[in-house]
Amino acid sequence: MIDISPLSLLRRNPLKKVLDTERRMRENPASTARVVGIASGKGGTGKSVLSTNLAVLRAQKGERVLLVDFDAGLANDHLLLGLAPQYDLGHVAEGQVSPAQAIVEGPHGLKLLSGGVGRHGLANPTRRELERLFRALRPLEDQFDLILIDHGAGIGYATLAHLAAATTLIVVTNHEITALSDAYALYKRARMVNPELHVGMVFNRVPDTATADAAWQRFRDASRRFLGTQPEHIGIVPADSAVTASVDARTPVCLHNPGSWSARALAEVARWNRIDTSRSVTPFYERALRALR
Ligand SMILES: Nc1ncnc2c1ncn2[C@@H]1O[C@H](COP(=O)(O)OP(=O)(O)OP(=O)(O)O)[C@@H](O)[C@H]1O
Ligand SMILES: [Mg+2]
Repeated sequence: MIDISPLSLLRRNPLKKVLDTERRMRENPASTARVVGIASGKGGTGKSVLSTNLAVLRAQKGERVLLVDFDAGLANDHLLLGLAPQYDLGHVAEGQVSPAQAIVEGPHGLKLLSGGVGRHGLANPTRRELERLFRALRPLEDQFDLILIDHGAGIGYATLAHLAAATTLIVVTNHEITALSDAYALYKRARMVNPELHVGMVFNRVPDTATADAAWQRFRDASRRFLGTQPEHIGIVPADSAVTASVDARTPVCLHNPGSWSARALAEVARWNRIDTSRSVTPFYERALRALR
């Protein structure tokens, strides 16, 4: 017979465990991961190049880094890192494997949770699917120092749910007017769903500093004028053949050619101080779950 007396329930009750965990988190807030999203309006601006290099550079510093490739359907972080994962987020979302089974190890011990290629189920997830996935990913927050989330281009439902929960976001844009305009639309939307969100902007693949500065001024002026606020400018990464060569070599440029202009610029972005302070009081995936409701 099953014993359901209050005493036996108390014995089995996980409440003590929860309280212990909360106490541990209060005493040592470093026990949950900092979470930073990487997004863009327009596609192909360089999110995955930035995400993979950031992941390597922060892992090189000794942090336990998890890179989640949320560009479900068209993921390619594994290619940029020279990895061939057997499972991906799609398998996790379908409950076929646990996140731990899907995670693979990359340079300097960084971990990758791949988005998978051609898995369209996750490209347009339903609320239930996202809910299941966020629940499955929640325990990872206790196992890493930093979780980087590489988003698909644009403002899809999954990206919006992440933006609503995030404290820190990096928007990657190019200097062209189309990329700037899409980045502005993303920034505006992000501010709407989450006025607290701290946004940093990276201008990637720019021909020269003057062009990047002009693009930034344009963006900043429009933001100030129409939104009464502006993101933080955090870096300029030049158009560099070293990046193209590193993509071909399936090794991030910070490892393939660390002395190149682009690698040095990426290292500068990796030192952005907000990355060190991007922890929220409530765990990220709990906030993300709430954002779905
Ligand atoms: N700084 C750079 N210099 C030269 N080439 C670059 C640079 N950054 C990115 N690229 C090139 O642009 C391509 C696209 O970059 P990446 O895959 O990072 O874009 P993305 O924003 O992740 O694209 P998507 O929206 O499809 O996810 C890379 O394969 C690389 O060849
Ligand atoms: Mg990408």
